[in-house]
Amino acid sequence: MKFFIDTADIHQIKEINQWFPLDGVTTNPTLVAQVEQEHHHLIRSISEVVKGPVSAEVLSTSSEEMLKEARELAGLHSQVVVKLPLTQQGLITTRILSKENIPTNLTLCFSALQALAAARAGATFVSIFVGRLDDIGIDGMEIVSQVIHIFSHYQVDTKVLVASVRHVSHLLAAAELGADMVTIPPALFSQMIQHPLTDKGLTQFLKSAGRL
Ligand code: E4P
Repeated sequence: MKFFIDTADIHQIKEINQWFPLDGVTTNPTLVAQVEQEHHHLIRSISEVVKGPVSAEVLSTSSEEMLKEARELAGLHSQVVVKLPLTQQGLITTRILSKENIPTNLTLCFSALQALAAARAGATFVSIFVGRLDDIGIDGMEIVSQVIHIFSHYQVDTKVLVASVRHVSHLLAAAELGADMVTIPPALFSQMIQHPLTDKGLTQFLKSAGRL
């Protein structure tokens, strides 16, 4: 399973990339609004730090405007993946971009049928928002499981990206299901490697060595 980081904060990306090599980055308008950098400059800078797909989201809602924005974003760096909402206009845009070999990430996916529609349009990635599904009482990981099952049944090329990850058990479940990648908020990287027995064992070893 590949690990993407879900942030637009380049400082956090650089810090984590030192000890946990990142496979890619996802941003969205909310994350971009939290940092004080111009969008295009930010996407270029992130693409120089992480050698992998960097998702940058369009803000338009009509396919004509989405296409214009998408081509601009794709022109920023070879690693840019254009993030589009899973709407009819987003799907029209995805079909055209797919023919132009511009990679896409269909976002705000909440059902297996939406994911199937994204795949049929030629999406490179489909982002399933597990946390937001959990929030409304639907098991997000169950939707991921359905999508993986359906995609493997028909040998679909679209990659299953587990997004809106809230806790480490989402990571474990995603890996067990064989998701292609997860995108996770910065704080979860350190939580992932924490274990009280690691801390306890290290303290014991240091005491034995006379270092404590
Ligand atoms: C990533 O691509 C998504 O935009 C992100 O994971 C959404 O997460 P949230 O539901 O915590 O906002």
